[in-house]
Amino acid sequence: VTSDGVSLRAVFGCFPTGVTAVGAVVDDQPVGMAVSSFTSVSLDPPLVSACVAKTSTTWQTLRSARWLGVSILAANHGTICRQLAAADPAGRFTDVSWDVTDGGAVRIRSASAWFECELEREISVGDHFIAILRIVSHLADPTVEPLVFHRSSFRRLLAS
Ligand SMILES: Cc1cc2nc3c(=O)[nH]c(=O)nc-3n(C[C@H](O)[C@H](O)[C@H](O)COP(=O)(O)O)c2cc1C
Repeated sequence: VTSDGVSLRAVFGCFPTGVTAVGAVVDDQPVGMAVSSFTSVSLDPPLVSACVAKTSTTWQTLRSARWLGVSILAANHGTICRQLAAADPAGRFTDVSWDVTDGGAVRIRSASAWFECELEREISVGDHFIAILRIVSHLADPTVEPLVFHRSSFRRLLAS
């Protein structure tokens, strides 16, 4: 079956993922976006990746930040996630509890886990950049249930 962008997006959506919030403080303001394309890449050196649309204006700002925070959103962060994907970036952090590191990386409070990263490399592939991020510090609370994104809906894990 040949594919157009809309139907391909629907097929990609059959693959469930977690959702992260990638964020940094830039010019004294928190900047961030929801990213579900997060993947672990390497243990040594410690690397993760994210695919960001070349059209993303938020990424253009984030890529200039020295340190980036990557928060793995919790099951009850659905509203925060939608907010962090809003077309207008102005209200993305309204009513969101977050902290910032000395280096400017943003951590969403009560996230399942969090990485502080440095942008190591950006690879241009198709209509996205693969951002390779080097982990400089990390935190996890394995008791916090993660948010799951599947077919445009938020879900949670169920023990089988
Ligand atoms: C659940 C979810 C996952 C997303 N994952 C990605 C992603 O992996 N890469 C990406 O570039 N945008 C992703 N987005 C879209 C961005 O969060 C955001 O909508 C977009 O960056 C807004 O455009 P701007 O960067 O020009 O402000 C996702 C949105 C949602 C709701």
